[in-house]
Amino acid sequence: MSGATRRLKIAVIGGDGIGPEVVEASVPAIERAARSCGGELEWEWLPYGADHFLRTGETLPDSAFEHLRDEVDAILVGALGDPRVPDQRHARDILLGLRFRLDLYINFRPCILLHPDLCPLKGSADRKIDFVIFRENTEGLYLARGSSRNVGTPEEEQVAEEVNTAPKVSRIIRAAFLWAKEHGRTKVTMADKSNAIPAHHLWQRIFAEVGEEFPEIEREHYYIDALAMQLVKRPEQFEVIVTNNLFGDIISDLGAQLVGGLGMAPSANLHPGKVGLFEPVHGSAPKYAGKGTANPMATILTGALMLEQLGMSEGGRRLVEAVKAVLREGIRTPDLGGNATTTEVAEAVRAAV
Ligand code: NAD
Ligand code: IPM
Ligand code: MN
Repeated sequence: MSGATRRLKIAVIGGDGIGPEVVEASVPAIERAARSCGGELEWEWLPYGADHFLRTGETLPDSAFEHLRDEVDAILVGALGDPRVPDQRHARDILLGLRFRLDLYINFRPCILLHPDLCPLKGSADRKIDFVIFRENTEGLYLARGSSRNVGTPEEEQVAEEVNTAPKVSRIIRAAFLWAKEHGRTKVTMADKSNAIPAHHLWQRIFAEVGEEFPEIEREHYYIDALAMQLVKRPEQFEVIVTNNLFGDIISDLGAQLVGGLGMAPSANLHPGKVGLFEPVHGSAPKYAGKGTANPMATILTGALMLEQLGMSEGGRRLVEAVKAVLREGIRTPDLGGNATTTEVAEAVRAAV
């Protein structure tokens, strides 16, 4: 990128557990990569998370929501989830609330093997794992529709309704095909459970209809259970996977482990034309909070997705290359078999950018 410096405002919600640590450590590397291609990032730290909720009773006030919607260029989130809030109300309001209210219908979760020894499968020396999950992010079981009866009695009944609507199934499937086309991929795989859940026939119909618009891209279907098996058996066969909200959540942790674990998995919540929300796939890992050993690479790679979406693809590419270089040097946190700290790894990445 050339010309004048672009100033971009990034709102940060560090959140809970390891969230604030991994974000704080990652900021200098992301900043340096942005600067290398003409971007100046202004970071705005917001206090929302379990501490704030327990102190004030506030999860995400409307004024903050409106600010995030209208006045920032991107939102970077660490993680939300805290054992002191058993129902995780704050996480629902903040994380799912932002996804739903900003209508960020694409949960984009790449699974890319950045160093051969990170894959737990045997014979991984020359494996090429490089696929992306398009997780539907605005409906499914996550709307928490349903009913409760006889709560607390032996006859308790909890009904959770899974919502699948044609417009929302269409837009996530179309996003997957469009991305495949724009990135020279040749196949999109859709996973559902239509053999047991009749509602999922909608996914089959729409996948066929939308797929017709992309004759150059192969369509493949798996039931979600078989997809899980294939992901472990031969992950290199996949390019783009599209699925519903819950299945996408589950297979994104499986996909993460194929490429080194949750410490290596980035994600972006997107709706073209709207502000994006960027977060690592992992959660707040409470037992590692405050120890300084959490892997910041997932957050740094999330920063790469953020730079790409902000029009700084070159900065994003540099971050990924820097992470690869640091992995080769063997500077790793304990989850990857090393003994470096969060800040040592993040600083090594910054230096390598
Ligand atoms: P988790 O992702 O927090 O942690 C599971 C395990 O993965 C950890 O115990 C640890 O072994 C490993 N791990 C995760 N991130 C790591 C990192 N950066 N470096 C090294 N190891 C890492 O999942 P969980 O234990 O099921 O959930 C803990 C809390 O986080 C819950 O409240 C959950 O709801 C929440 N959560 C939040 C998000 C989010 O904010 N996006 C995502 C997942 C879970
Ligand atoms: C994720 C998380 C969230 C989800 C939780 C914290 C609600 O697991 O981002 O993958 O299920 O979407
Ligand atoms: Mn998850």
